[in-house]
Amino acid sequence: MSVQPRRPTRFWQRWRKLLRFNLMYLRQPPWDTGVTPPEVIEVVEGGVIPPGRAVDLGCGTGTNAIYLARRGFTVYGVDSALIAILKARRKARRAGVHVHFHVGAVTRLDFLPGPVDFALDIGCLHGLLAEDRPAYAAAVANALRAGGHYLLYAWGWRGWAGIEPEEVKHLFGDRMQMVWMRTGEEGGAPATWYLMRGVDHSEMTAH
Ligand SMILES: C[S@@+](CC[C@H](N)C(=O)[O-])C[C@H]1O[C@@H](n2cnc3c(N)ncnc32)[C@H](O)[C@@H]1O
Repeated sequence: MSVQPRRPTRFWQRWRKLLRFNLMYLRQPPWDTGVTPPEVIEVVEGGVIPPGRAVDLGCGTGTNAIYLARRGFTVYGVDSALIAILKARRKARRAGVHVHFHVGAVTRLDFLPGPVDFALDIGCLHGLLAEDRPAYAAAVANALRAGGHYLLYAWGWRGWAGIEPEEVKHLFGDRMQMVWMRTGEEGGAPATWYLMRGVDHSEMTAH
């Protein structure tokens, strides 16, 4: 009789990820470059996304949340890694801006005081467990006001993390409309920027 190795439960998989991220934030993880990507600068400074209420999903040490606050947004940053949020708060204090940083899961956005005009995710969704992705998509779609924008950067599937464009479209279904998609590569594998817009369902049903 062969003995199947036991798969860790979802609970332990989540804890393992949380522990791994916190340990990585004790030092400087490779993604924590302190540089806001040109795609974010393009939509913000190009006027596609005017200042309003924004949420940075999986904000890490706050580089992009702080950038948005400097550009006049009221910003909420959420990350489950306490160490990242402690660093983010210190960075915001040093930068002289106010950002509402929150330790929590991106699948639970009920800490937000109301709908957001802009949701940003750089590298968080593609690392979530497959089972957590529908809850994430529902939370983001509910948090975004109709006509608000959602900018996502996600790796394509690479064995241990990633999400394919088809899954992104499927997750959001008719709750988001794709504005543009740009696929490039990171580390020798595909990675995509997605700009989406929240759909107003009352308008859709009115016609
Ligand atoms: C690759 S890092 C990117 C961080 C940041 N967006 C940046 O560009 O520097 C992914 C981040 O998502 C956070 N994260 C992962 N799963 C999460 C979850 N379920 N809820 C909240 N944050 C999560 C991690 O702690 C980590 O800070």
